[in-house]
Amino acid sequence: MLRRVLLFAARQDRVHTALRALPASRAVVDRFVAGETPAEAVAGGSALVAERLCVTYNSLGEYETDPARTLRTRDAFVAFAGRLADAGLGSEVSELSVKLSALGQLNGPGGPARALDHARVVCAAAKKAGVLVTLDMEDHTTTDSTLEIARELRRDFPLTGVAVQAALRRTPADCADLQRAGARVRLVKGAYREPASVAFQRRADVDRAFVRCLRTLFAGDARPLVATHDPRLIGITTELARRHGRRPGQFEHQMLYGVRGGEQRRLAAAGHRVRVYLPFGPEWYGYFTRRLAERPANTLFFLRALARP
Ligand code: FDA
Repeated sequence: MLRRVLLFAARQDRVHTALRALPASRAVVDRFVAGETPAEAVAGGSALVAERLCVTYNSLGEYETDPARTLRTRDAFVAFAGRLADAGLGSEVSELSVKLSALGQLNGPGGPARALDHARVVCAAAKKAGVLVTLDMEDHTTTDSTLEIARELRRDFPLTGVAVQAALRRTPADCADLQRAGARVRLVKGAYREPASVAFQRRADVDRAFVRCLRTLFAGDARPLVATHDPRLIGITTELARRHGRRPGQFEHQMLYGVRGGEQRRLAAAGHRVRVYLPFGPEWYGYFTRRLAERPANTLFFLRALARP
């Protein structure tokens, strides 16, 4: 119930505005969001790299349909790639996480083509900076279009990654396709509330699908980017990597900024490649409420901070 309310609140602008005005909420947001500016993001990323972690930067923002704003978002990604190179972070330690809806994917019938054009420009700038790119996966109405755009981008930028969600019933088949293509594939459980017609509703079913997808990705040519904090799934990942003789760099563990930092460092110290998803920007609200929805304890922590004088 709480999760449903939070996922609903994630789309409400008025709640966003009210939260922004509360200084106490800022402190809790900082746990999950690295800052509002590119400079703060680079500083946060540098600190993680100094601890032998890799980073994927997400400039927050989604569901944009105004063409002028999608263009600005594209240009901001391009400038950010240059900034990473200037800071000495222009190598595979850095990646850009791109939400196609922020590049106009949902702006009518021509949206996907425009988002592809914008994403190409971002990928070219990232390549020049030596930085990787992975496409985030949004709700199920965008899956076909996102996978298609990822396929197009891989023609010119073969290392372009794409996220897939174990919660969706289609994902084992998508993993089989992506494995054959040798793609970089970020496997996640899925952060969106989806109907039963397309998605598993029980956590146990999502977890089972996650393991099935993992087996497919490790058995084939894909480069699995395993994005979970779940200890059992992390254990299965390291075991599959061992069984398939995958060296560090041929797969990655990925986790969110502010979540299980101790485990991130433990895995890195054990020689694994670990990438931290580092969100930044003034548009933190939708992202932040999804993190609260994932874990009731986060919501309690947040409410307690608000209640503090
Ligand atoms: P689960 O939610 O079962 O959590 C397992 C354990 O991890 C919990 O018991 C707790 O200890 C810890 N944990 C998890 N979330 C926490 C939180 N918010 N705060 C504190 N502790 C927490 N989704 C999507 O739909 N599209 C995408 O493109 C991406 N991209 C993405 C990238 C990366 C790098 C990560 C790590 C995640 C995503 N996600 C995503 C989000 C993903 O779908 C999922 O919602 C979260 O990762 C939480 O699921 P877990 O697999 O961690 O398991």
